[in-house]
Amino acid sequence: MSREIPSELIEEAVAAALRVREHAYAPYSKFHVGAALIDSNGGIHVGCNVENASYGLTNCAERAAVAAATSAGTRDIVMCVVVTETSPPAAPCGACRQVLSECDPTMLILTTNPQREDTWHTLADLLPHAFGPTSF
Ligand code: THU
Repeated sequence: MSREIPSELIEEAVAAALRVREHAYAPYSKFHVGAALIDSNGGIHVGCNVENASYGLTNCAERAAVAAATSAGTRDIVMCVVVTETSPPAAPCGACRQVLSECDPTMLILTTNPQREDTWHTLADLLPHAFGPTSF
C-alpha cells in the first residue's frame, strides 16, 4: 500500500479504535484509550490500555496495539489511530511515541475522540530527533 491510505480504511481503523476502547481496563485513572494500527497490507491491529493495582505496570493502548501487530506477524505500520475521550483528543505519551517509532518513525498519527475532533500529526513531528535502531 502506498502512503495514500484509503479513507474507508481510515474509517475502519477509527471504528476499531472506538470499539477496543470499550475494553480498556482503567479502574484507577478512569481514562479509557483505544488504539488501532494500519499495516502496509491494510490490516488493522488494536489495543487498549490495561492498568494494574501496581500502577507502574500499566500498559498503554498504543503499545498493546504494537504488541498485537507484532504477534500477527507485521511491524510495517503506516498509521496509528488513538481514541481518547478528551477535547481536544490526547496525543500518545512519550513511551508510546518511542515504541511506535521503532516500527516506522514517519507513520501518520490520527488522534480523535467520540465527537470526531480529528487531529493529524506525523510521528516525526511528535518525536523529533528520535533515538532508533540505527542510532548506536
Ligand atoms: N494511556 C494510554 O493508553 N496511552 C497514552 O499514550 C497515554 C496514556 C493510558 C495509560 C493509563 O491507563 C491512562 O491512559 C492514564 O494515564
